[in-house]
Amino acid sequence: MPSDLSPIDKAKFISAKRAAQYVESGMKVGLGTGSTAAWLVKCLGEMVREEGLRIKGVPTSTRTAELARDVGIEVISLDEARWLDLTIDGADEFDGELNLIKGGGGALLQEKIVATASDQMIVIADAGKKVDTLGAFPLPIEVIPFGWQTTQALVEETLVSMDVLGRSSALRMNGETPFLTDEGNHILDLHLKRIGNARQLALVLNQMPGVVENGLFIDICDRVIIGFGDGRVEIHDIGEGRVDAEHLDLAESDNLFSDLSD
Ligand code: 5RP
Repeated sequence: MPSDLSPIDKAKFISAKRAAQYVESGMKVGLGTGSTAAWLVKCLGEMVREEGLRIKGVPTSTRTAELARDVGIEVISLDEARWLDLTIDGADEFDGELNLIKGGGGALLQEKIVATASDQMIVIADAGKKVDTLGAFPLPIEVIPFGWQTTQALVEETLVSMDVLGRSSALRMNGETPFLTDEGNHILDLHLKRIGNARQLALVLNQMPGVVENGLFIDICDRVIIGFGDGRVEIHDIGEGRVDAEHLDLAESDNLFSDLSD
């Protein structure tokens, strides 16, 4: 096994590789965004090129679209696909009910639309993403640029009556300028520390003018695949209510590692 990949990268790769086994020829697949999802796209590209896997991919960001095309995956739009068999994506946090915080990469809007339009959503992650209660990771919300400071003030005021520990928020920046999503919007990162009632918060945030979408994914994810640096995999299945443990042979992945690492 190459030594240049960090344990976290190996864990991400392992979870992506295991998740790729759920993808079958003929499927329309939502392709997530982020470093873990990038491993997935690379694994699927390998399967397309080497094993003749035939899939159509719906990317959740321009950067995932670019990568998918680069590795040989046929890319179509969500409107061309209409409905997807499966979406596989990363997450910033997930809890015991497989509710998620997403949007660390700024793609939460397209990610939520694509995951919601899928028969199944699988999250791939390293073990560091598992939490008892959501909220240590700042919750991203996508807001339209018009009047964003007014929206921010309204959000912070609304948080007073929510079951959260912190209420400060920050406009996400890209160097000196505000970060722009693929839809041309801004991201506010809400530093809530602990979200007592994620379901309620998600509903309240989406009712506010100026807020396009929030990064809480409630009842959307069906399965989380946690990878570990030593090849262990845990599969958490919400429908079956159980956790399966497996081990992937990393020695067999030597070629993949060297082919796929950037
Ligand atoms: C992008 C996301 C990502 O899935 C999330 O940030 C996890 O990223 P990574 O796999 O790089 O840790 O929600 O908007």
